Amino acid sequence: MQSSEVRSKFLKFFENRGHKIIPSASLVPENDPSVLFNTAGMQPLVPYLLGQEHPMGKRIADVQKCVRTGDLDDIGDNRHFSFFEMMGNWSLGDYFKKEAIEWSHEFLTKKDEGLGLDASRLYVTIFEGDENAQFDQESKDIWMSLGIREDRIYALPASDNWWSPGDNGPCGPCSEMFYDMKGDIGDLNKEDFLKAIKNEDVIEIWNDVFMEFEKKDGKVIGKLKQKNVDTGAGLERITAVMQGKKTAYDTDIFSGILGKIKEFSKQSNLKAERIIADHIRASVFMIADGVLPSNTDRGYVLRRLIRRAVRYSDILGFEHGELFGVVEAVVEKYKDTYSELTENAVIIKKEIEKEENKFRETLKHGLKEFEKGVDPFVLATTYGFPIELTLELAKEKGIEIDLEKFKEKMTEHQKLSHTASAGMFKGGLANHNEKTIKLHTAHHLLLAGLQTVVDKNIKQRGSNITEERLRMDFLSDRKLTDEEKLKVEDWVNDKIKQGLNVVRREMSKEEAEKIGAEMEFGAKYPEIVSLYFIEDANGNPISKEFCGGPHVSNTKELGQFKIQKEEAVAQGIRRIKAVLL
Ligand code: SER
Repeated sequence: MQSSEVRSKFLKFFENRGHKIIPSASLVPENDPSVLFNTAGMQPLVPYLLGQEHPMGKRIADVQKCVRTGDLDDIGDNRHFSFFEMMGNWSLGDYFKKEAIEWSHEFLTKKDEGLGLDASRLYVTIFEGDENAQFDQESKDIWMSLGIREDRIYALPASDNWWSPGDNGPCGPCSEMFYDMKGDIGDLNKEDFLKAIKNEDVIEIWNDVFMEFEKKDGKVIGKLKQKNVDTGAGLERITAVMQGKKTAYDTDIFSGILGKIKEFSKQSNLKAERIIADHIRASVFMIADGVLPSNTDRGYVLRRLIRRAVRYSDILGFEHGELFGVVEAVVEKYKDTYSELTENAVIIKKEIEKEENKFRETLKHGLKEFEKGVDPFVLATTYGFPIELTLELAKEKGIEIDLEKFKEKMTEHQKLSHTASAGMFKGGLANHNEKTIKLHTAHHLLLAGLQTVVDKNIKQRGSNITEERLRMDFLSDRKLTDEEKLKVEDWVNDKIKQGLNVVRREMSKEEAEKIGAEMEFGAKYPEIVSLYFIEDANGNPISKEFCGGPHVSNTKELGQFKIQKEEAVAQGIRRIKAVLL
């Protein structure tokens, strides 16, 4: 079974069980400064798991694009991908354990409508209980009622069977399904089962999370308003299982991409081939969702991915420019599912080309520094000069490199940068405190202000809101004049003073498009959408945006609006930072 069929079967199965299908959200979280990328299917749905009504109802199914780049050194093995697709069915305060488990089992094992996997090759884990929640007897009973034998159900601690996206947000115990990849593994005691996972003889294919709890600052603080179900089934893993392969690299998902890489390679090196395939695939999706290479945050992740891909393509002996063949293979594979790839194909290629050239410049500088005899640690961290390259050159020139010392320094450096990026997650998901909400409403006013005062064609390209400030990227070729900045500020402050109502409405996507509501860059929307209007005293909208909220109910709550900075972030893209005093 091809990956595209796995995707469509999954959605159809849940559609037949009352779920509404929604498109994948962008890889870049909307108005959530606490995470760089959506790392799980649940992330874009956090407000709804916390109790906000979803315009499409209480039963939803989707395939969400995700990025996890925790440890790039794991890429190239069988299971880690920096980009992946997560299939999920969602109950937002609707059904709970019984239906979730029964449907997971039915989809996996049923012929025709499901995947028709062999039920006798399944193993299941459940939560063993701790001070936050008790042993999950209910899930165990449901699994047994479906014919899973008691000795194939393993109770595991929170470290394995409690799912949360970080230190804050909705969370809960989970039940995971594993599949015997060999076909004849048979019964396993708990110890052997855990060993089999390690050896990849059994692999996890599905996770049912029963999200009825909430975490704050790393502690479970109690129950949510509603009982939710968050299920996640990795498309890459399930496709591998369906095609009898140990890894998705050996399935149709990667066959075209790896085929191209082999065509350009002058030697074979499985790990290098997989790294290029993985990194270019992730880079293509990131750029399509508006991320550009830079030295900070998301841009830095993208920069590292592209540079590693270039480096490994050099090792394989690619000619300059051949990496584009790989980019094209990625677009080709996904173009029917994700139209943003073809829509942005030109930008994607341009950005990867620019980054490759910059990297080559860096390498040249690094080479000069190397010749001057600079420390390999400085070469790596300041010039992005890979240690393998330093070692190769040193060997050529008969110079000794103290690799141990280099490793020590790098470990220390990585510890520091991990701490810095861990800090990113501290604010929690979908930061819905009062200050952030106010800045969110100010963000809508700012866009309307720019369109009214500067140019009605201004389009938003990205947004990021913290407790302290809002940030908006928009398409424009030129700097704002000081006079324009003042005028925009005055316009926004005037709207604040007038005390205008902020109203949420749901309507069909078609209608929302017809009335010209602003859309988030790169976002795909479901058939029914939620919109926020800011209306003048006569009920005429001065701002209308596709938006999940939340917002203040009247602009008079905002205080004084002030633009702090207006600058270029990339060619044709300007950035405004603004605050409320
Ligand atoms: N959130 C869970 C996961 O990512 C299930 O979707 O595994």
